[in-house]
Amino acid sequence: MKVIHDIDEMRRWSRKRRLGGLRLAFVPTMGALHEGHLSLMREGTKLADSLAVSIYVNPAQFAPTEDLGRYPRSLEDDLRKSEEAGADVAFVPTDATIYPDGFQTFVTVEDVAKPLCGASRPEHFRGVATVVAKLFNIVEPDVAVFGEKDFQQLVVIRRMVRDLDMGVEIVGCQIVREPDGLAVSSRNRYLSAEERESATSLYRSLNAAAEMIEGGETDVRKIIERVTNMIESTKPMRIDYAKLVNADTLAELDRFERPALLALAAFAGNTRLIDNRCFR
Ligand code: PAJ
Repeated sequence: MKVIHDIDEMRRWSRKRRLGGLRLAFVPTMGALHEGHLSLMREGTKLADSLAVSIYVNPAQFAPTEDLGRYPRSLEDDLRKSEEAGADVAFVPTDATIYPDGFQTFVTVEDVAKPLCGASRPEHFRGVATVVAKLFNIVEPDVAVFGEKDFQQLVVIRRMVRDLDMGVEIVGCQIVREPDGLAVSSRNRYLSAEERESATSLYRSLNAAAEMIEGGETDVRKIIERVTNMIESTKPMRIDYAKLVNADTLAELDRFERPALLALAAFAGNTRLIDNRCFR
């Protein structure tokens, strides 16, 4: 697997592939790679002839109060895992490469970036959309793979690609979970034993909601009440939001109606976890 730090070199690499008639898949990541990331890479190898990954902790998507400084970094391990998962090239830029002096152009996706995580993290999706747009311009992939773990991110990226005519196919992959149901995340390593145990209430509450919905419940208030009670009764969990929204527009639902997304964010101590279930 080739490791590239430079934008022009990355462009030359992918142009050469595509001139040779090869289809290129791309998986952007912030490193600290785990089974969730690797499942996207494996999917990428099935969708195209070549696979590019990026490893870059994007400062623009972290608020000053968030965990940028302590975000886990493990480049050597990440490169080995990427290669094992089938990547042909890893693009690993520096901050100065992505945000050179004088940088002042951002991509703002409007409505779908406002609710859910956008409400608690106002600048987050502007940072995500900007870096993903830049990475698409540099790597020029035919198809890019994202996880449904960050469902709103996937909706934001799809909207950006459609609105700006980016010509990249976007593929979403299902959430990879630990055996007890906790969604795999690089932030799980921050959890104490007690927090790790309580964090499973997110998955359990999604299952309880799904059961209510399969049983014909359409009262959103009742579903959300059940979810909230299940999570908040397991100390030290504290809900940031629990919402049932339209899975395409992310607009809040009055009554349950498909396609729906049940989206959760909660703090286990100081660690913010997200999870969701989509009902199509
Ligand atoms: P990161 O958090 O590293 O995630 C990279 C990709 O892995 C995202 O598409 C995310 O949805 C996916 N992923 C994470 N955990 C997953 C899980 N348990 N199951 C399935 N997929 C999972 O998301 C980002 O980085 C950044 O915002 C990025 C898109 C790279 C832009 O900086």
